[in-house]
Amino acid sequence: MPYRRLFNTKQAERYLRRYRRSGVDKRAADAIGYLSRQGIAGATVLEVGGGVGGVVVELLENGAGSAVSIDLSTAYEPAAARLAEEHGFTDRIEHRIGDFVVEADDVASTDVVFLNRVVCCYPHMPAMVSAAATKADRFLALVYPRERWWSKLSVALGNAYLSARRCDFRAFVHPIDGIHSVVADAGLSPVHLTHDLNWETAVFARA
Ligand SMILES: C[S@@+](CC[C@H](N)C(=O)[O-])C[C@H]1O[C@@H](n2cnc3c(N)ncnc32)[C@H](O)[C@@H]1O
Repeated sequence: MPYRRLFNTKQAERYLRRYRRSGVDKRAADAIGYLSRQGIAGATVLEVGGGVGGVVVELLENGAGSAVSIDLSTAYEPAAARLAEEHGFTDRIEHRIGDFVVEADDVASTDVVFLNRVVCCYPHMPAMVSAAATKADRFLALVYPRERWWSKLSVALGNAYLSARRCDFRAFVHPIDGIHSVVADAGLSPVHLTHDLNWETAVFARA
């Protein structure tokens, strides 16, 4: 399974050290800041592809009530459980291992759904984005690569490197209009859009 080869225990420990040192990355922090300003007291959260779980920890620190974190890779769960324990959130975060798109029917809707740098790891964008948007009762937060030549080049170089290492995992720069159109079909509208050189942060709200 290519995901488990790339998103492995070594990577999980690296992500954990990075989170302890400097918190979540700037793009995720931007969405968390926006959601916190809207008011997420007691909110339920679903994070897909959350890795070691820094985003759910920060949403709970900002008032959310409970979270479910589902990731395809088995490698992250021990590090995610440790991080939850360090923050006193063991009882409020459920960690699940599985393919969210395949298991979506068994995942409950939540107030907030969060996918940080996950859509770009999945080949079938409409299936992933539609499943996530459908589960969002209030907000959907997505961080995905911008459709710029340098982002496409960087992803192509990364994929060439993975291919040379005989790893089957591939990253994708999905069309942003397509992402927004799938989210709109699920009944959500963009309320917060920001970007840096490579990544766009988009928060959508249900009317
Ligand atoms: C690039 S990592 C991002 C991790 C974390 N969100 C971050 O930004 O640091 C992508 C994550 O998405 C997970 N993932 C990809 N497709 C998934 C799916 N269909 N269901 C659940 N998790 C998935 C991978 O296992 C991996 O942990």
